[in-house]
Amino acid sequence: MTDLTGRTVLVTGANRGLGASLVQVALDRGAAKVYAAARDTDSLAGAVETGQGRVVPVRLDVTDLDQIGAAAALGDVDLLISNAGITCQTPILGTAGIQDFRRTMEVNYFGTMNLVRAFADQVRVRRGGIIFILSVAAVSLSRSAPAYSASKAAALMLASSVREELRPDDVTVTVSLPGWIDTEMASALPGEKATPREVSERSIDGHLAGDGVVWPDRFALMVRENVDTRMLDLLTRPREVMNAVAAEFAGTGS
Ligand SMILES: NC(=O)c1ccc[n+]([C@@H]2O[C@H](COP(=O)([O-])OP(=O)(O)OC[C@H]3O[C@@H](n4cnc5c(N)ncnc54)[C@H](OP(=O)(O)O)[C@@H]3O)[C@@H](O)[C@H]2O)c1
Repeated sequence: MTDLTGRTVLVTGANRGLGASLVQVALDRGAAKVYAAARDTDSLAGAVETGQGRVVPVRLDVTDLDQIGAAAALGDVDLLISNAGITCQTPILGTAGIQDFRRTMEVNYFGTMNLVRAFADQVRVRRGGIIFILSVAAVSLSRSAPAYSASKAAALMLASSVREELRPDDVTVTVSLPGWIDTEMASALPGEKATPREVSERSIDGHLAGDGVVWPDRFALMVRENVDTRMLDLLTRPREVMNAVAAEFAGTGS
C-alpha cells in the first residue's frame, strides 16, 4: 500500500498524544475513514468534529479481548496503527510491585499481539499494512524505564514475526522507533522532544514508502547510528540473514 487515498485506517490510543496526531496525518494523507480507537470515546469529540464525517470513534481498551473482537468486526481496516502504550518509570530492583511490570507487558506486548491477531485477516485480504509504534527503547535500554524497554523489545520481535508471516500476502509491516516525543508520557522529562506531528508524518510516510523500520526524529536517528547494519538487516530480513548463518554454520562444522 503506497497511498492512503480512499483507504481506512484504525489508530489505537487515538484520543491524545501521538495517537491524536496519527489520526490527523492519516486524514491529511487522504484516508477516507479513520477509526479513532480509545478507552473513553467521549475524549474523541474534538477529533470527530475536525474529521468532518471521516473520523469514527471506536471504544477500545487493548487489554480487553471482547472490545478488540468488536473493533475487528468492523472488517474494513486497511492500515492498522498500534499506538496505545504505557510507560513504567521504575527500576527492576526497586520497590515497585510485579503488577506494574505485568501491566506494562499486558498493554504494550499482549495488547498489541491480540490486536494484530484480530486484524490480520482483513489487512491481509485488503493488501494493507500495519504500523507498530514502538520506541528506541526497543533496541537500547531505557535506564529510567527498563520494563517499558523490555515490553517494546518484545513487541519488536512480535512485529518481526508478523512481517514474516504476512510477507507472502504483500502486507507492509513497519516499526517506528521514536525517541522522546512531546506528549503526556514524556512530560516529566526535560530537554528537546520531537513533536507528535513530525513523528506521525515520518511514521506514516515511511510506511507508505515501504520502510520496515522508521527512525522518526533526530534523537532516534542518532541512536540508529549506533546500531550495526547487520543488526538492522536482522530486524527487517531475519529469514535471509539466518538462512545464511545456518548455511555457514553447516558448512563449517566438524
Ligand atoms: N512520549 C514519548 O516520549 C514516546 C517515545 C517513544 C515511543 N512512544 C510511544 O508512543 C505511543 C503513544 O504514546 P504517547 O507519547 O502518545 O503517550 P500518552 O500521551 O501517554 O498517550 C498514551 C495513549 O495510549 C492510550 N492507552 C493506554 N493504555 C491503553 C489501553 N489499555 N487501551 C487502549 N489505549 C490505551 C492512552 O489512553 P487513555 O487516555 O485512556 O489513557 C493514550 O491515548 C506509545 O506506544 C509510546 O510507548 C512515546
